[in-house]
Amino acid sequence: MSSRINTWLRDPLLGTMHSAIRTAGAIRSVSVDITEVCNLRCDGCYFFSEGMDQHKSSDSDLDAFIDRELARGTNFVTIVGGEPSLVLDRLAKLYKAFKLSVATNGVQRIPHEGFEELPIGVSVWGDRDNDMKLRGGGKLDVFSKALANYRNDPRAFFYYTVAPGHAHEVERVVERCVQNGNRVLFNFYGDLEGRGGELDFRSGFAEVHGAIDAMIDRYPDHILMTSRLAEVISTGTLLGEPWGHATCTSISADNPVNAERIRNGNPYSPHFRAYNADLTSTRRCCTAINRDCDSCFDTWQHFSWVMLNLRKHRRSQWDFTQWLTTMYLFYFINHLVDVQEGATLLPEIHRLTRPQPPRTGDQPWTSPRTNSSTARDSSVPCRS
Ligand SMILES: C[S@@+](CC[C@H](N)C(=O)[O-])C[C@H]1O[C@@H](n2cnc3c(N)ncnc32)[C@H](O)[C@@H]1O
Repeated sequence: MSSRINTWLRDPLLGTMHSAIRTAGAIRSVSVDITEVCNLRCDGCYFFSEGMDQHKSSDSDLDAFIDRELARGTNFVTIVGGEPSLVLDRLAKLYKAFKLSVATNGVQRIPHEGFEELPIGVSVWGDRDNDMKLRGGGKLDVFSKALANYRNDPRAFFYYTVAPGHAHEVERVVERCVQNGNRVLFNFYGDLEGRGGELDFRSGFAEVHGAIDAMIDRYPDHILMTSRLAEVISTGTLLGEPWGHATCTSISADNPVNAERIRNGNPYSPHFRAYNADLTSTRRCCTAINRDCDSCFDTWQHFSWVMLNLRKHRRSQWDFTQWLTTMYLFYFINHLVDVQEGATLLPEIHRLTRPQPPRTGDQPWTSPRTNSSTARDSSVPCRS
C-alpha cells in the first residue's frame, strides 16, 4: 500500500470503508445459472437471446458443483438463470455453502425462512406499462407483484434496468420502490432484439444518468449506485479506457475464448467463471457468449471493472475515493460488510462521489467528514 494511499486513508470515512472491506476479506466469486427454466420471457433478455437455456443439470450435478467450487476456494456466488425462485431447494443448498447474491424477477417470493440474510436483487424494467410490455408479455404486472412480494423486506433491493428512452419514468419507479421500503440499484438496458427507438442503446444513456443523479439527490439513503459509476457505465469509459472485451474483467478465466484477452495484460479475475446451467461449462462472461460488448451495460460487470482497476485509481485522492466507494458499495449491497453501518454511510458516499473536485495530481481534497484520525497501514485484499 503506497504511502499516498495511507495518507488518504486517514480520512475517517475512507478509513472506515477500507477497514470494513479488509475485515470482510477478498472475494473469490463465480456466477452461475441455477436453472435454465424461467417463468417470464423478457424482451431482449440476454439469457434467451444466445440460447443459454439449452444447458441443464441434475441435483447430483449441483452437489458436485458445490464440492468443486468449495475446493477451488470460491466464497461468493452470484445466482442468475433462468429464475432462481423456481428452484428453492437448489438455492438452499448453495445458500448453505457460499455467500450469495441472487437475481429474481420477483413474481414468486423467495421465502424468508431458510434465506434470512440473502441479498436479493429484484428486477424491474420500468413503470407498470413499460415493465408489463417488456417483461410481462403485455398482460402481467410484474413490478406490482414484486413490490407486494418484497414490501419492507430488508433482504431485497430493486435492480432497475432502464432503457435510454425511459428516463422520464425513473422518478416514478424509484418513488414506488422507496415507498415500498426498498433501495434501488440501476442497470442499463441492452437492446438485444434490435427493437430500436426508445430502447436503442445507441441513442445513449445521458438522460438516464441525469435522472439517476436527481434520484441520488432526492433519496441518498436509498440509491445504491453512485453518480460516478453511472457515468462509467453510461459512457463505457473508465479513466480514459474504453469498455469492451479487451478490458472487461468479468471473463471466465478457464475458457479458451478468453485466452488472447488474458494475454493482453489488462486486469481480470483469475478465479472468476460464468457457469452455464449445466453447472460445468462456462461461457465468455456473465451475460454473453458471442455478442458484441457494445450492447453490454451490465452494472455488475462494470462494478468489477472499477474494482479490479485499483492501479488506475491511485493517481489522486478523488480517483481513489471513487474506487473505494465502488468497492464498499459492492460489499454493502451483497451484505459482506455490516449492513447497518453501510446504511448510515450511504448518503455520505453520495456526497463523496457527486461533486467534481480536482481530478488530477495531489491537490488537497477532503471528504465532508474529514478531520483527522490515525493512519491505517493497510492493503486492499479484495478482488471480485
Ligand atoms: C437473465 S436475468 C436472470 C435472473 C432472473 N430471472 C431475473 O429476471 O432477474 C438476470 C438479470 O439480467 C437482466 N437482463 C437481462 N437481459 C438484459 C438486457 N438485455 N439488458 C439489461 N439487463 C438485462 C435482468 O433484468 C436481470 O436483472
